[in-house]
This record gives sequence, structure tokens and C-alpha cells, in this order.
Amino acid sequence: MRVKRSSAIVVLLENDEFVFHNFLGQQTFTANPTALEILRRLHVWTDLENLGEYFPGYSRESIERSIDQLVELGALVVEGTDAAVLDEDYTRTWAWGPISAAYHFGTRDGAFISAEEGMELLRQQAKFIPSPPLYQLNSNPATDVPLPLREDYSEPFLTMAKRRTNRVMLDAPITVEHLADCLLFSMAITAFIEDPETVDLPLKMTPSGGGRNPYEAYVCVRNVTGLAPGTYHYSALERTLGVVGEGRPPPFPSLLAGQQWSSPAAAVVFLVANFDRVMWKYQDPHGYRVVMMEAGHIAQNIMLVATRHGIVANPSGAFSRIAVEETLGVGGATQSAVYALVLGVPTEDPAEGVA
Ligand SMILES: Cc1cc2nc3c(=O)[nH]c(=O)nc-3n(C[C@H](O)[C@H](O)[C@H](O)COP(=O)(O)O)c2cc1C
Repeated sequence: MRVKRSSAIVVLLENDEFVFHNFLGQQTFTANPTALEILRRLHVWTDLENLGEYFPGYSRESIERSIDQLVELGALVVEGTDAAVLDEDYTRTWAWGPISAAYHFGTRDGAFISAEEGMELLRQQAKFIPSPPLYQLNSNPATDVPLPLREDYSEPFLTMAKRRTNRVMLDAPITVEHLADCLLFSMAITAFIEDPETVDLPLKMTPSGGGRNPYEAYVCVRNVTGLAPGTYHYSALERTLGVVGEGRPPPFPSLLAGQQWSSPAAAVVFLVANFDRVMWKYQDPHGYRVVMMEAGHIAQNIMLVATRHGIVANPSGAFSRIAVEETLGVGGATQSAVYALVLGVPTEDPAEGVA
């Protein structure tokens, strides 16, 4: 059996200890000097049979005990295991270094609590720590510049003004035409910038840093007139839905971190980032921030189209990564679901259910 140190470890000094975080396995541990020495040395695949040679000052039993513990803690990976495959995938493909990786992988499985629990926590917190103000005033009448008032809210301004999250949805269908528009105006490729030397860059109605267009859209369809329930991938070029999974998708709350309000929704669009497309051009980890920004552009267009059609697209950053990846058939170190838009038929009063 061969082992090596996990490639996904960052070490922090906390108080008087070295604290190790394995951001791929989400494990945190402290290491004593023996463990530290083992980790330092085992940076390449090493046969356990030969460990005596590597650590002459230590008894075989103490080395084996430490190795077992370090494997359990995710500090060492064993050749051929799922952890080793993940480790290999990460080192081979993640080009933005360990700081961005620690952030990306270390935060991708949020510990979500229910809305009620969250509200109660906030109520308690507000008693001791007041919230910072949520807007900034100018308040200098001598120099503040009043801007012209807009009286006319004709389109497209009316739609922008009307957009609202409304989590109270009817258990009713949306139409395939409305879903198609949501995807068309956010994701469809409308032109190309030709570049014979590298690759033609797709252009869309939403902007993309360097034209790299890292996002693919997937749709879990529950109740859409003219479309069979199932899970689909949207081809931005062909403007078609490719079947990823047949039959009803899993109940939406099971995909969306338990958010019960999503259960009567008609469909959920997931925006999935393909970081490799951006890494190929931009080696600097700032590229990570650019990918996150782009999700907002796409989501906003989906929300505006939904509003225009009298349906709703509720944004959700909370979802259960593993369940979503399994349902969509995506995953790996450089592919990640980032944003969910929950489409449905809204109730009359958009104020209801707003957090
Ligand atoms: C990036 C992002 C993530 C969000 N995630 C969630 C979420 O996980 N669950 C939820 O119920 N609402 C979520 N929201 C919706 C906000 O709570 C909502 O936008 C906010 O209450 C303001 O209401 P409005 O959208 O009607 O302006 C999210 C919004 C944004 C922009």
C-alpha cells in the first residue's frame, strides 16, 4: 500500500498550535512533531513497507499508528481510494493555487440551517451586536448633487423595477416558452469573435471576462407545460435541452439545502461554472472572482425575463452540492454549481415570504 501527503492542506498558526485544514475533505486537525515529520517527508507516493528507512528514529508501531491516524484525518491519502482520485484531480487541474482552492473547496459545502433557525440566531445577535448600516448617506446639502427624477417607468425599466423575490409560489406550471426565454436571454450564444490562433470566443447577452464564458446552465424540470419532467442541459449554441436524467428530479428542497419554499416550484436552473475555461487564459487567481461575478449577470437576466413573463425566478445561493452534482452529472475539481434560480408561478403578493 502506498500513501502520500494530501495536496489539499493549508496550515495555520492558531494560538500556540499548527492547525491543519484539508480543504478537499473538509477536515481540521492539529499535528504533533512526529505527525508533522511524517507529513513533511511523505510528499510523494511512498510504500508503507519502506517506512522504517524514512523514519529511522521511530518504532514501526508508532509510525503505523500515526499513519493510520493521519489517513483517517485526511492528512495522508492512500493510493487507489476516492480521496486519492480527488487529490489527483485537484493537483492536475486547479491552476489558481492553494489560497483560492482553500476558499473554493473549503466553502462549497455550506452548513445551512433553516430560515426559522437563522432568523432566531439573528434576533439574538442583534441584541448584542447591532447590524452595520445597510446603506450610506451623503448628507451634505451644500455639495450633494440631486439627480434628475425619473417619472416614466416604461420598458425595460418597468420590468427592472418590478423584479422581486417571491418564495410563495403556486403548485402550477410555467410554460416551455417562458423557460426558453429565460435561457435565451441569459445564456444563448448570439455571435462569435473569431480568433484563428486560439479559439473563437462566444458572445452572449451577458458579459463574460475575456469571453471565456465559464457557465453552463442545467434545468431540473418538475412542472413545465410542453416539457417532460427531467433534468436537462441547455446548449447555448444549439438552444436545445439535452436530457441528462429522465423522470421527476429529486424534490427541490433536497437539492436546495432543505428550503421548503422551493417544493411547489416548476423548475430550477443551476448555473455551473467551468473554471478550466478561465484558468486556460488567466493564470492569476483573480480569475476566480471574475467567474463569481459572471453568475450575477446571468442570474439577473433570468430574473428579469421571468418578471416580464409574470413568473418568478427566485435566487438561491444555498444548495446541497453533492445532491446537485449527482443530479446534474457534473463535478470534479474545476466544475462547480454556483447559483440556483427557482422558477415558478408567484402568488399575488410578492411581499409574502421575503426574508
Ligand atoms: C447571490 C444571492 C443568493 C441568494 N440566496 C438565497 C437563498 O439561498 N435562499 C433564499 O431564500 N434567498 C436567497 N436570495 C434572495 C435574497 O434573500 C433576496 O434577494 C433579498 O431578500 C432581497 O429581496 P428581492 O430579491 O425581492 O430584492 C439570494 C439572493 C442573492 C442575490
